[in-house]
Amino acid sequence: MGFRKDFIWGAATAAYQIEGAAQEDGRGMSIWDRFSHEPGRVLFGHTGDVACDHYHRYKEDVALMSELGIRNYRFSIAWPRLLPDGTGEVNQKGVDFYNRLIDELLEHGIRPFATLFHWDYPVALQARGGWENADSPRWFEDYAALCARMFGDRIKDFITLNEPQCFIGVSMEEGRQAPGLRLGAPQTVPMSHHVLKAHGLAVRALRALSSDCRVGYAPCGAPCIPVSESEADICAARNAYFDVPTDERRWARNVAWWSDPAMLGRYPERALRVFEKYLPRGWERDMEIIRQPLDYYGQNIYNGRLIRAAHNEPGYEEVPLPVGFPKTAIQWPITPDALYWGPKFLYERYQTPILITENGLSCHDAVSLDGKVHDPNRVDFMHRYLLAYKRAAEEGVDAAGYFAWSFMDNYEWAHGYNERFGLVYVDYTTQERIVKDSALWYKRVMEQNDI
Ligand code: FCB
Repeated sequence: MGFRKDFIWGAATAAYQIEGAAQEDGRGMSIWDRFSHEPGRVLFGHTGDVACDHYHRYKEDVALMSELGIRNYRFSIAWPRLLPDGTGEVNQKGVDFYNRLIDELLEHGIRPFATLFHWDYPVALQARGGWENADSPRWFEDYAALCARMFGDRIKDFITLNEPQCFIGVSMEEGRQAPGLRLGAPQTVPMSHHVLKAHGLAVRALRALSSDCRVGYAPCGAPCIPVSESEADICAARNAYFDVPTDERRWARNVAWWSDPAMLGRYPERALRVFEKYLPRGWERDMEIIRQPLDYYGQNIYNGRLIRAAHNEPGYEEVPLPVGFPKTAIQWPITPDALYWGPKFLYERYQTPILITENGLSCHDAVSLDGKVHDPNRVDFMHRYLLAYKRAAEEGVDAAGYFAWSFMDNYEWAHGYNERFGLVYVDYTTQERIVKDSALWYKRVMEQNDI
């Protein structure tokens, strides 16, 4: 018992966070290029202009992955690198870059998992209203089709969208990520419908053009952890996990609105009653497109919330974490059981193999006197989370795999380079890569297929 034989062990990155070469070889501008250059948006004004310079150093990076025993690599394709205007003319040099990367991965026996959209939305499309535009699903469908045509002969695993909760919720409601808007439900609800439709259309296009490919989705959401394993607390946690806030200015960070339509073909009922008035006319007709069978249901999980049963209207309440509760450098709480309850509740509800598309932490990593990077906190974190995930697998959850976030330190969005999530340390002045202790530890875990 434990992890299944064909368990997918891997590491993940995203284009804007590592590639750099922001203005090279005909790449178009993304909303992150613009946002990161606006004063006051990103800590210390950091931008992804250079990042890890992976665009030029991909060979060295792939060789390092291979040395570290990474057999599955999740990366993202930069939409504006392929289509500088978001639609229309293809930038051959962008295609060439991903061809080189994919070939390099395959030569090293590394299976590529390509995320089509990890937040670097083309500015040209944002100027046309972005996700608010009713044509936006078709733009994404065309881009997905292009990826299938260009790379589908070698990439067999595609992930459509990364964390719509963030690229709509954090970006369009809270304004903390590009494009930094603060909109309410009348605008964000139609966007959400277009995003979901884009996902469905993309799955269809990928399957039509690359019949043997596997497709997933990578939403997120903090799992709800019952304070005790009593039936009442478990039930309360489940309800809290799938509940959708009905606050018109802060509703988008939830699990069910973004997954029920894709996985079950319907919007969650209570939220639908509140938000239906904002859905585009004829939305019901799209539900068939939105619900597409997936090979795995991806989920990015970093931490969870503690929930207990309560005698109030929703029947649950959040339990504050005790003073001094352990947290990572970015101040996220360390809650290993998120990787037990999250997959368990998600599998119960969606009945599709669960793929952890991201999990990890930032630490105050530094190069020690011995020239190495010792990160015992990362080893301990991953160890605990993986034990929880293993428990879920042993209790019948179809646990398909796990991707560590991240292969290497990189540009952590509005936190700039101030948070280090990598298994590999990056010295941004010299671009030197230094393997952290955790990478060597993780190598053994992957080899043994056990923790
Ligand atoms: C997730 C993002 C990923 C990374 C991690 C730390 O929300 O998908 O790009 O920034 O957080």
